[in-house]
Amino acid sequence: MDRRDALKIMGVSLAATVMAGIAPRTHAAILKDRESNKKRLVFYFTATGNSLFVARQFSDTPLSIPQELKKSEMIYEADEIGFVCPDYAGAIPKIVQEFVAKATFKAPYIFTVITYGNLCVNVAEWWDEYAKSKGVVNNYVEPVLMVDNYLPVFDMNQQMAIDKNTDENLARILEDVGAHKNHIGQPEMGMFNKDILKQMQDQHFSMTAERLLELKPDRCVTCMTCEKVCPHKNFSLGSEGLEFSGNCEYCLACVHNCPQKALTLKSNWPGMPGERNPEARYRHPDVSLNDIIRSNRQ
Ligand SMILES: Cc1cc2nc3c(=O)[nH]c(=O)nc-3n(C[C@H](O)[C@H](O)[C@H](O)COP(=O)(O)O)c2cc1C
Repeated sequence: MDRRDALKIMGVSLAATVMAGIAPRTHAAILKDRESNKKRLVFYFTATGNSLFVARQFSDTPLSIPQELKKSEMIYEADEIGFVCPDYAGAIPKIVQEFVAKATFKAPYIFTVITYGNLCVNVAEWWDEYAKSKGVVNNYVEPVLMVDNYLPVFDMNQQMAIDKNTDENLARILEDVGAHKNHIGQPEMGMFNKDILKQMQDQHFSMTAERLLELKPDRCVTCMTCEKVCPHKNFSLGSEGLEFSGNCEYCLACVHNCPQKALTLKSNWPGMPGERNPEARYRHPDVSLNDIIRSNRQ
């Protein structure tokens, strides 16, 4: 590749980045990808944008897992396959588990980046084992620290004010993946052990919309944003206004993305409030509401 070609690629990529409103990947990384001409497929699930932001650092066209799940045939073959999704109490969202269980993946290098907000616990090991049980062998699994969107424990205004060193950690992970490093991330258990995590996971995996959510009817303007961002189509407009029911991902996309802050969380743990701050909501600054809708809409 001569200098002119290189500058052309940089220019196109910078223009695309500005138009898409996302943080630029390093030019070196882009040039490396194009030069190697490798086919990389990246799948993601997101509720508040962290995982989509990360997925975009690895691919210009990451594929949404809720959208891929609509396809009748899910067989994917590439030089590199990547997954990006959040950590839910040391496990991976149900919808990602379902995708990996149903689809077939063929690639000599498979990597996963798990976004988390506070303590990654043993999610890398959990995911490595789960994926293996479905025939998917990860070469690389690494968590990356970002804003914690878990409303029962965290105030989003406080979370957004913390510098979590995400860019630096992501740059390291991009390098690792580019170099096809083999690695499974280390656990960081804090006050948790596997028994407590199992209880939390069981609660998450059996959650229903009715048990999790409470509506403030005076705030709801039935814009149906909740319906558009829900990966399970749990919302509808009834004769009395907004209605919700069904198995819930516990992803909190509906609560965080509601423009009216009309949805809040009921308390699901004895002695704990439903939420730390019902007036504070989060979406990654480089991810739009339309991005979340396009990712999750059913
Ligand atoms: C149900 C639930 C459980 C979570 N559990 C954890 C956890 O155990 N440890 C942690 O550090 N973050 C946890 N989080 C925070 C998310 O993993 C984190 O904010 C993630 O980056 C959100 O990704 P998204 O913006 O792509 O949806 C949890 C979030 C939710 C909604």
